[in-house]
Amino acid sequence: MVIGIPRELVPGEDRVALVPGSVPALVKSGAQVIVEQGAGVRAGCPDDAYVAAGATLGSRDEVFAKADVVLQVRTGAAAGTHGNADVARLGAKHTVIAFADPLGAPDAAKALAGTGATVISMELIPRITRAQSMDALSSMANIAGYKAVLLAAATLPRMFPMMMTAAGTVNPARCFVIGAGVAGLQAIATAKRLGAKIEAYDVRAAVKEQIESLGAKFVELPLDTAAAEGQGGYAAAQDESFYRRQRETMAKVVSHSDVVITTAAIPGKKSPVLITADMVAAMPPGSVIVDLAAERGGNCELTKADETVISPNGVTILGPTNLPATVPFHASQLYAKNLTTVLAHLRSKAGDLVIDPADEITREVLVTHKGEVVAPRLREALGLAPLAAPVAAGSPA
Ligand code: NAI
Repeated sequence: MVIGIPRELVPGEDRVALVPGSVPALVKSGAQVIVEQGAGVRAGCPDDAYVAAGATLGSRDEVFAKADVVLQVRTGAAAGTHGNADVARLGAKHTVIAFADPLGAPDAAKALAGTGATVISMELIPRITRAQSMDALSSMANIAGYKAVLLAAATLPRMFPMMMTAAGTVNPARCFVIGAGVAGLQAIATAKRLGAKIEAYDVRAAVKEQIESLGAKFVELPLDTAAAEGQGGYAAAQDESFYRRQRETMAKVVSHSDVVITTAAIPGKKSPVLITADMVAAMPPGSVIVDLAAERGGNCELTKADETVISPNGVTILGPTNLPATVPFHASQLYAKNLTTVLAHLRSKAGDLVIDPADEITREVLVTHKGEVVAPRLREALGLAPLAAPVAAGSPA
């Protein structure tokens, strides 16, 4: 098996799919690794580190020509137009494992199917215990939660910790985290380390204990959250009257917060608006909102993806959409671990790639195989009839 690592093409995408530290185990397993020149430089992984670890270097064309398995951060729709030229480089011998945003843009998945390549989407890893070390959405959300707090701290005209100095006492920053999933819990932990006073809220009552164990106060809202728990530990979408009531009951906490970090996501849906322009107007001037849900519309009414918005009363609203890429060294290290675990899951004892749709994880992550879009949700979105029978097990070649 030859594993190829192309350089990422999306501007600002400084991660790389495989780090030198992941190469020796792959080589030991009988695989060869070919890395596009310069692929890891922006992540702090120079070419010579890959060579020292046992990989070879090549041009982009060589990587695609030699590889059976292509590991990327972004392919298909997740790479936007930047990946267009790669479609012509792909063929039936390739298995691509990457973020592919198949649900966001089903047509791009169709174009990938047309190449004959097998595409495995990292967004579709199920949140089950067996797949935990493959879960790249979680590993990246963890980094986003951490970095969101650092951004807020660097933007806020106040300090986070309480300080008693000869020049006077500084009060701690008040931080409110909305949504205590992976990103939110890491945001709480990071803000705590910086000394902020933290409150947090989540519609899933089960996380109250986790919030409190990190030293934050769980905000009790008089809302009926019995139906808030969706499938697989994710939240279920609520109706607009629920969100209106949530905004009303949360307004007071928002108005006395210096920093609000929002992470409330509903898988596959537009993010609910939890902070209106009026609520922003009631916040102290200089306060900061970091909206991690910006990519899908944002949790704040004023958020603009990847822009800094300053409200009339001087509140800064940040909507970064790719924070993991701003910590590229560790993001790449964790992502490489996620990818190599997926790859190991797909390999037989002899080291061959086996696409077995009967396996729960493989079935969930498989987007295209043998020229077809195979993911049932995507076929439905594309108006394609369900496949008569699961695709046959065996090598994609
Ligand atoms: P998650 O599903 O683990 O957490 C989301 C949490 O929000 C859940 O605990 C859920 O119960 C809660 N929630 C949903 N609706 C809510 C509501 N109305 N009020 C309060 N809580 C609510 O998701 P994860 O992995 O923590 O990701 C969080 C968000 O961060 C996602 O939108 C994800 O796309 C985003 N993200 C953003 C990045 C960036 O650079 N901006 C990078 C990585 C993730």
